[in-house]
Amino acid sequence: MADLQNCDFCSLNPLELFEQVTAQGEKVRSLKAEKAPKDEIDTAVKLLLSLKLSYKTATGEEYKAGSPPTDFTPVSNGPGDTEDNDFVDPWTVQTSNAKGVDYDKLIVRFGSSKIDKDLINRIERVTGHKPHHFLRRGIFFSHRDMNQILDAYENKKPFYLYTGRGPSAEAMHVGHLIPFTFTKWLQEVFNVPLVIQITDDEKYLWKDMTLEKAYQCAIENIKDIIACGFDINKTFIFSDLEYLGMSPGFYRNIVKIQKHVTFNQVKGIFGFTDSDCIGKISFPAIQAAPSFSSSFPQIFNNKSNIPCLIPCAIDQDPYFRMTRDVAPRLGFSKPALLHSVFFPALQGAQTKMSSSDPNSSIFLTDTPKQIKTKINKHAFSGGKDTVEEHRKYGGNCDVDVSYMYLTFFLEDDDKLEQIKQAYTSGALLTGELKKALIETLQPLIAAHQQRRKQITDEIVKEFMTPRKLAFDY
Ligand code: TRP
Repeated sequence: MADLQNCDFCSLNPLELFEQVTAQGEKVRSLKAEKAPKDEIDTAVKLLLSLKLSYKTATGEEYKAGSPPTDFTPVSNGPGDTEDNDFVDPWTVQTSNAKGVDYDKLIVRFGSSKIDKDLINRIERVTGHKPHHFLRRGIFFSHRDMNQILDAYENKKPFYLYTGRGPSAEAMHVGHLIPFTFTKWLQEVFNVPLVIQITDDEKYLWKDMTLEKAYQCAIENIKDIIACGFDINKTFIFSDLEYLGMSPGFYRNIVKIQKHVTFNQVKGIFGFTDSDCIGKISFPAIQAAPSFSSSFPQIFNNKSNIPCLIPCAIDQDPYFRMTRDVAPRLGFSKPALLHSVFFPALQGAQTKMSSSDPNSSIFLTDTPKQIKTKINKHAFSGGKDTVEEHRKYGGNCDVDVSYMYLTFFLEDDDKLEQIKQAYTSGALLTGELKKALIETLQPLIAAHQQRRKQITDEIVKEFMTPRKLAFDY
């Protein structure tokens, strides 16, 4: 295993190293062309070799002219530095466009790959299941290395799923269901183990919250997660505050990651500053560690090479770019990823739903009446101002939040298409579109509340107990 101690240029990130190797290569070439003195050429060649070695140590791969490292591309963010005004990091999602973030541009900026028709067809072929509507409708739209997971699956090789949740409040909203609903589908069609990390430590560090409160939110959120229908024999759910103190395997991976990522790197990826507490600075290692199977020796029989697939919203990608960057240096394989779009706030797709603004979200605890009132009062409409105008010009589904929500929650493709046609032509009015959404969400949330009620403390405890799952390794 390569170690950073052998690295002369370890303060540079892989992309900077790549650029230095390229520049030094050019320098050597021009010195040779100029027939410079031998000792000058030798010194330049020595530096080039040392840079190449550092590059290999940092990335786990040989330097290849013209192919920069894919996972460690610093992502430009923030207003003013790109032609669009999209801003996406794990804490903020903001755009000036009413249609929402431009996801195609995000794929280019993050260096991930689009989930295209070919990949969706392959998932269908390999699993024998109709692709989930989140795939068919581009709600999960981007990936990293999904083809490798499918290769493994086709060759009867194991892999596991990892996802998580930061418990920022006791009540979750409907947007939080998206990754879990999809993860449950993946668990069913691939029949694989699943680990779910509850980052109560993260919320303690980032929010004004006591440790006790963070843990309490974790337990309440875990009940909502279990209510999504995960198989108790195939799922391990853990609170960081609890599991970190119980598992040498987990903590060992955390310190390995901490040793191989510099402050410079996390500053570049997450924008930390000198006044951020050191808890925040080291937290990314804690979110990275579950990507490696040796963090769960009880599940994987101490094996460290079981590949991992992470379904998550795209704002979590910075954590996993870092994870993929560090993995080869630790001798582990890089986790694969499936990225979803954000769930828009009721007020419009410029931002994502927030748990702290009750009117921006529909909560899993809302009553049928609250659901109705919130949608009628707050859901941003793409309809026209008057009935006459609406009938004449039609509504705009691209910016209409009720329509967007239906793409997430109305499974029937034909019904959704009918609604789109009717709204666009002006035959369907905004009130009627909202009614369709209200009638879709009310039973869905009521059913969730019913399932949640059945979840006892014993069930929660069992999901959270480190144990072997229904798989042998
Ligand atoms: N940081 C995430 C949040 O705030 C929680 C999380 C931890 C997570 N591990 C994850 C999300 C893995 C997706 C995948 O919600």
